[in-house]
Amino acid sequence: MRSFAGRDILSLKDFSRDEFFRVFQVADDLRPFARDRRNSDLLKNKTLLTAFYQPSTRTRLSHEAAMHRLGGQVLGFSDSKMTRAGDFYQESIKDTFHMLEYYADVIAIRHFQQGAPAEAAKWASVPVINCGDGWGEHPTQVLTDLYTILLEKGTLDGLTYLLVGDMRMRTMHSILYALSQFDARAIVVGPPDMSLLPEFKVELDELNVDYVEAGDVRDVINEADIIYMEPVVQADYTASRQERTGTTGLTPPEYVVSRQLLREKAKRSSIILHSLPRMDELPADVDATRHQRYWAEAFNGVVLKMSLLSLILGAAE
Ligand code: CP
Repeated sequence: MRSFAGRDILSLKDFSRDEFFRVFQVADDLRPFARDRRNSDLLKNKTLLTAFYQPSTRTRLSHEAAMHRLGGQVLGFSDSKMTRAGDFYQESIKDTFHMLEYYADVIAIRHFQQGAPAEAAKWASVPVINCGDGWGEHPTQVLTDLYTILLEKGTLDGLTYLLVGDMRMRTMHSILYALSQFDARAIVVGPPDMSLLPEFKVELDELNVDYVEAGDVRDVINEADIIYMEPVVQADYTASRQERTGTTGLTPPEYVVSRQLLREKAKRSSIILHSLPRMDELPADVDATRHQRYWAEAFNGVVLKMSLLSLILGAAE
């Protein structure tokens, strides 16, 4: 297995099975600190910089919470309009990250351009973590999702993953790459204008990912062990920010997982993950069902990032 120390986390396409389990093992080791709301001093001499060019609630704050739990320092920006990248100068990734590398030991970036974290990693000598890049990937979210599934099911193999929503979403890309490392079957359900791109399907075939496409969640939910959701009433992920103007459309029933559908058709043991935020594809009354695991996911997000930061900064090897 490659060392994590000093490594950029840009994609799950290049993650091996052993590497997934190494991240989850360290997460288990560090979990008691988060569970008991204690801080450690594992990263007391290290600094995380968060460079977020797109809005975020969970991803930025869970990285920062993880760093605080490990005794490290945090700085950064969450509104790029207040940096030179977002004003008159439109400062490039190259020039920006030439600066930022001097300010911290690891950088977490979210950006509206696919490939921006990889570009940043070229110009920063410190490790760079992709926290979501346009329609590209979202590796830390999917590591959190898989860690949650492992805790809930005791395995990542032998499961059927029902992926519902916008297949252009970065989480959908990362999870399908990740499933190449497990004995997993995926059923993909999304609107035709939000389907997997042909070039991405070629990659999935090259990686030997076992997936089929279906048109309606109501026809296939009975097969699912894991119900993995994203909205289809979506923001434009290639924009730095999108305000809501007027009313949004409703999610068609083909992509809604309701309490009634779960009661009538889902396996009783199936669990629902959603990276959040949600729209009407996942009504709030599902929260009280046996299937809901998205709040556990939120806690696991802190633990997972504690693991990743420890590994990348060489404190867990
Ligand atoms: N899951 C996720 O990426 O949430 P945020 O956009 O709030 O970071």
